[in-house]
Amino acid sequence: MDNSKIKRYTVTAALPYTNGPVHIGHLAGVYLPADTYVRFLRANNRDVKFICGSDENGVPITLKAKREGVSPQEVVDKYHKIIGDSFRDFGVSFDIYHRTSSQMHHQTASDFFETLYNKGVFTEEVTEQYYDEKAQTFLADRYITGTCPKCGFENAYGDQCENCGSTLNATDLINPKSTLSGEPPVRKETKNWFLPLEKYEDQLRTYIESHKEWKPNVYGQCQSWLNAGLQPRAMTRDLDWGVKVPLKDATGKVLYVWFDAPIGYISATRELFEYARLDVWNPKSEEYYINQNGVQKGNWEDYWKDDSTKLVHFIGKDNIVFHCIIFPAMLMAHGGYTLADNVPANEFLNLEGQKISTSKNWAVWLNEYLVEFKDKQDVLRYVLTATAPETKDNDFTWKDFQARNNNELVAVFGNFVNRVVVLTHKYFGGKVPMLMDVTPEDQLVIDELAAAPAKISASIEQYRFREALTEVMNVARIGNKYLAETEPWKVIKTDEDRVRTILNISLQIVASLEILVEPFLPFTADKLMKMLSYGGHQWEDAGKMNLLVRGHQLNEPVLLFEKIEDSEVEAQIDKLNKSKDDNIKANTIATPAKENIDFEQFSAMDIRVATIIAAEKVEKTKKLLKLTLDTGIDERTVVSGIAEYFKPEDIIGKQVSVLVNLAPREIKGVVSQGMILMSENANGELTFVAPIENHNNGSIVR
Ligand code: 2FM
Ligand code: ZN
Repeated sequence: MDNSKIKRYTVTAALPYTNGPVHIGHLAGVYLPADTYVRFLRANNRDVKFICGSDENGVPITLKAKREGVSPQEVVDKYHKIIGDSFRDFGVSFDIYHRTSSQMHHQTASDFFETLYNKGVFTEEVTEQYYDEKAQTFLADRYITGTCPKCGFENAYGDQCENCGSTLNATDLINPKSTLSGEPPVRKETKNWFLPLEKYEDQLRTYIESHKEWKPNVYGQCQSWLNAGLQPRAMTRDLDWGVKVPLKDATGKVLYVWFDAPIGYISATRELFEYARLDVWNPKSEEYYINQNGVQKGNWEDYWKDDSTKLVHFIGKDNIVFHCIIFPAMLMAHGGYTLADNVPANEFLNLEGQKISTSKNWAVWLNEYLVEFKDKQDVLRYVLTATAPETKDNDFTWKDFQARNNNELVAVFGNFVNRVVVLTHKYFGGKVPMLMDVTPEDQLVIDELAAAPAKISASIEQYRFREALTEVMNVARIGNKYLAETEPWKVIKTDEDRVRTILNISLQIVASLEILVEPFLPFTADKLMKMLSYGGHQWEDAGKMNLLVRGHQLNEPVLLFEKIEDSEVEAQIDKLNKSKDDNIKANTIATPAKENIDFEQFSAMDIRVATIIAAEKVEKTKKLLKLTLDTGIDERTVVSGIAEYFKPEDIIGKQVSVLVNLAPREIKGVVSQGMILMSENANGELTFVAPIENHNNGSIVR
């Protein structure tokens, strides 16, 4: 969009699901780039509204509520607070952090649907969906588990197999089971309202192709969706949690969560303005974080329906189709709305080489980070921006976190600022000294400083936040190098005026750094402002030589960053590994039970305590061990697939439980007479099932 046409900005950040806290992947992928962008715009005096809120509808939330035995509202209340607090604590400066369970959102989403309905946009289709007769409810795909048709994994979800990553339809699953009742579901007809996306294909293509400047990953994904041909998509669901479908014949149906969630941006903007206009707080607003940035004047519609508004959606890559195809199609169908000017979606952040996973608890949670690294918000902001997954997936490691803190924030930025402020206090009582004769080498530094803000602006405007941050750090590097070369601590002995000039220039660099670093590290900027006793915040001031006038009194220096020790990051790595183990335990418990058997079937099994008296590998196999057991009844051979987990010499003498009346089978040329009972965790790791205290061989297990 032509900069001269822009009157105002609406910047949205993906509404996080409220089924868990937010982690570093969310921050790096969405909220930090969005916040940096918005802070930069504000520093440039642009009119901008920064919109976010909790995404509180959808099946995962109802599932979590069922699992925890609480209501969905309780789940979302809990996480809305935790997530909202994390954002506030990390300085993510939303104008409003709203929520989609609010009255305002239900009304806005419902009206939006009704408008489309009245315009005849939707098609009605009757389709067969899985239904749980015992629980008397239709089942969303997530509520169904079964065997994955692609890889054979037994606990695949109806929408996705977590083992092989395939996207599935519940009807693809082999032996589907309802997670509500454990029963196989039946197919039942149901009516839903579909958005005929194919009708908007041409309009969407024109829209997307007018944005060749979008990031290649975003543009490419849109093209491949369009090229594959768009299909009608159901905008309603059979579910009892969400925004009710505002039609007579739609009992038990709610809006599809991806229909209502992006409307959440609009309802949040409305809430911001409508309550601001009254200049009162919504009775519920204490938890809405309304008006973080003061009273809003104006009209919400200006921010959504005016061509001179630049709309930007910050999202993660899994949200691209919803923001670039489906939501624009909804807006086109509705009419009157402007479309996003850009959707700078990021790729994913991994953690210590593995995909971040909420369900596997492989994550660094923001609320926990702040307990362990109190007041170190900016360290995480720095590291996550410096390693942001802007063009490809990237890895966060605790070692890298430590190295960037110690070698960059402490050694470069903090060190430079500290030396300048300390020396000014030491030589000039903390008063800004006068700029005297400027040498050619001084001039070089002055010129470099003057050129920096434009470079940083250009990078930020193109959503290249890593590059922009590198440029900011380069300003600190220039300062450090200048000090190292001019050595004011030596020169002071012979030429005080020269030191005045060096420190004046250095202080102007520090003052510019305060402005330039603020969009990235607002807490550090705040400390700098206090240290400099300096109130300027305008981007256009950065790079100038007159930010601190001669004689201006500085405050005492404070340390901006401190070293992070090995032990601190090692503790984090241990914590991650431990939570993975704990999670494995939890997951094993969560595996659904098999179908019932009767007592006769159970008591037909003869399970005995036995001791392994000999063990060796079965030749030419990787997994098999040949074990000789003393079962108390006899001495017998059992072949067991445990060679990857146990060395023969380690298990001789161990007691085990063995099913002794399993019909003998020949396995790789060895006759196996029975089966050893093993416990297997979610990672496929094995351990023996044996009496806790030694029992005589032959003792009966029942
Ligand atoms: O992926 C997610 O976490 C979704 N809750 C994002 C929604 S973005 C928007 F449309 F609200
Ligand atoms: Zn699979």
